Amino acid sequence: MRDLLPKEAKRLRFIERIARKIADLYGYEEVITPVIEYYDLLAAKIGEENRKRMYVFEDLGGRKVALRPEFTASIARLIATKLRTAPKPLRLFSTGSLYRYDEPQFGRYREFWQANYELFGSPMPEADAEIIFLTADLLRKTGLRSYCFKIGHVGVLRGIFNHEGISEEQQNNIMQSLDKKEKAKAIKLLEETRASQKCLNSLKRLMEISGKDLSVIEDMKRIVNDYPNAVKAVMNLNGVLNLLDSGGLKTDMLIDAGFARGLEYYTGIVFEVYVPEMDIALGGGGRYDNLVKLFGGGKIPAVGVAVGVDRLSLALEKQGASMHYDKPPKILVIPVDRSMMGEAFKVSSKLREDGFCVEIESMGRSVSRSLSDADRRGIEFAVVLGPKEVKEGKVILRNMAKRKQMTIELDKVRKMIND
Ligand code: HAM
Repeated sequence: MRDLLPKEAKRLRFIERIARKIADLYGYEEVITPVIEYYDLLAAKIGEENRKRMYVFEDLGGRKVALRPEFTASIARLIATKLRTAPKPLRLFSTGSLYRYDEPQFGRYREFWQANYELFGSPMPEADAEIIFLTADLLRKTGLRSYCFKIGHVGVLRGIFNHEGISEEQQNNIMQSLDKKEKAKAIKLLEETRASQKCLNSLKRLMEISGKDLSVIEDMKRIVNDYPNAVKAVMNLNGVLNLLDSGGLKTDMLIDAGFARGLEYYTGIVFEVYVPEMDIALGGGGRYDNLVKLFGGGKIPAVGVAVGVDRLSLALEKQGASMHYDKPPKILVIPVDRSMMGEAFKVSSKLREDGFCVEIESMGRSVSRSLSDADRRGIEFAVVLGPKEVKEGKVILRNMAKRKQMTIELDKVRKMIND
């Protein structure tokens, strides 16, 4: 696990701040759930790959618990219990750290952060579309310029497999292989189920088709024609894509007929976000209509997304985004000598009240050394306090970039800087 030094921590908080703003703009209310949950809850539908990577341990009370590898299970638990009777739709936002024992490599960490959004209560394609619009908005508002969505629908493959009587466990194994892009293994696993030749052919053909226009949908429909639930899934995907199009989504959409995700709770559309500079996903999500029921909360449809904050930060860096903060200017307050220290604290408080970020010279350095320190650290203004100025209620205000200074009344500093 990493230590995040100031630059990295600042980027993480920058993205988090925008994620929170997006939550407000779309009406998602924040919930905070514990970092540790019962293992059984977290493991229920997380998928084999993720399950193996969980940090699991027994607490002092003998309970088998784990560090959360994602938010979705915890939020679904809330819906099944404490928010059971809350009016729907219910839009919930979470952000924080998650833990997976992944092999550390570029963009893959054992502790990472997500911005997570879940929409409960609606089975309609408009709910799926909202989640995708929201994701695109979040990425755009952070300053990401180029990204694309990959989208599919797990109902297509599950529709075929269920029709063929393939067990859920076998289905999950096949989906895991597809998630890892192990196509040959997926076919082999399907062969082992003694599925029909028609089923095998359908999977092989679906795995080969992807593209950016709606002709992919027509191809998918043709392939799954004999499987009614798979046809329904294709139509549902089509409905979501139509809404994205008529709603004016500007982002590239790659429709991938054989796309699956490792998490096992998905029942409908699934999607991931990519940037050209990286081959790992920045975010992922989808529809999961049965998870709340599994946790004892009745049939409540749901769709959601999690954007990986660390990976988004890497992508922004690669695309040269500024990650600009609207922070007020910084001032370094410098007493000419230590007898002015009390005044320096008073003046700093006043300037902070005025809305500036204020640091106080606290190393006992001379004025000239303090000024070069301010220069080196990119501090915009210095306020120097000498006995003569203070007696007159004045300070010396120095604009560091312009290398100009003036003696003015303390009350006028705010106006002078803001003008
Ligand atoms: P996920 O695809 O497992 O989905 O994770 C979402 C995002 O979290 C990934 O796209 C990636 O950016 C980030 N992420 C995952 N693992 C790591 C890691 N080891 N290091 C850095 N970043 C990582 C979920 O977690 C689902 N709960 C999403 C969801 C919400 N589906 C419905 N609602």
